Amino acid sequence: MFKTEVCDLLGIQYPILLGGMVWVGKSKLTAAVSEAGGLGLLGAGGMSTEEIVSELAEVRQQTSKPFGVNIPLARPDAEEMIDCSIKNGATVIATSAGSPKRYTAMIKDRGCQVLHVVSSVKFAVKCQEAGVDIVIAEGFEAGGHNGFDELTTLALVPQVVKAVDIPVVSAGGISDGKGLIAALALGARGVQMGTRFATTVESAAHPNVKNAIINSQAGDTCITGRTSIGPTRSLKNQLTSRIVQAENEGMAPEKLMEMIGGGRSVMACVEGDCEEGTVYCGQIGGLVDEVISVREAVDSMIAEAKTIMGRLSALAE
Ligand SMILES: Cc1cc2nc3c(=O)[nH]c(=O)nc-3n(C[C@H](O)[C@H](O)[C@H](O)COP(=O)(O)O)c2cc1C
Repeated sequence: MFKTEVCDLLGIQYPILLGGMVWVGKSKLTAAVSEAGGLGLLGAGGMSTEEIVSELAEVRQQTSKPFGVNIPLARPDAEEMIDCSIKNGATVIATSAGSPKRYTAMIKDRGCQVLHVVSSVKFAVKCQEAGVDIVIAEGFEAGGHNGFDELTTLALVPQVVKAVDIPVVSAGGISDGKGLIAALALGARGVQMGTRFATTVESAAHPNVKNAIINSQAGDTCITGRTSIGPTRSLKNQLTSRIVQAENEGMAPEKLMEMIGGGRSVMACVEGDCEEGTVYCGQIGGLVDEVISVREAVDSMIAEAKTIMGRLSALAE
């Protein structure tokens, strides 16, 4: 069912990936997505190597299916993080926020698959040249950090598909069977979801964050850092109002960083402060209106995709 070469490469049943999510994608969510037939990716961005080791031990206890780890290459200890992930059972390393050239050969030499997240065609080509196995093309709709080119999934994915020969996974704006079929129609061979999985029972996000997302409507997200510190999509709140106002008034990036301060995503995702913390959320948050289990999210997505395929096939007759 919807088996693509992404499934064959990663050893999974459905071409559905859990996007790496700092503070949110911990062992329970990672294992649940793998158990449901997708690929769980531990969101290791905020973890020490010791935490990665203990989280992966938990994952291995909960599933015998393949799983991976998302490692933002901006981390100075990225190499150690990769090393301990592989030693502790990850068969896939999904890198983001950095050059794919640096670690791809090393990861592949150790027998793992390398995925890399891009937001432009140029970087997708660089991934292919670096030997990356699967490129994840993430559109501007996505929750979290976005690309400066502001390419939406609908425009980005087919252009990446045209430019590279390696399989492409589509991310940004996908939460259900409609999104899966749309992504496959664009030429992607799988999907990666963040916002949908962040609001599942198994997600480690604070309940206030899950509620804020399921109660949000279309248009409730905004971009901060557009021209300075890097575009980031999150729910509009008191914090983002202050940032957007300061940006509009032309505040310098260093001053802006000072004003924002550190730890804003911890404040929301871990401590539950959805006004002063950063609630990463994609534009699709408006369609995500209940907290369900990962199994329900995956099963309903596949069931809906099947129904849509039937409807579309009938249209083509
Ligand atoms: C709460 C949250 C945290 C995220 N953290 C990370 C991260 O640590 N590393 C990363 O590469 N992407 C991160 N992302 C992006 C996701 O991995 C994924 O690509 C994106 O959410 C897909 O778009 P969607 O939100 O529309 O599903 C995050 C997204 C969310 C919603």
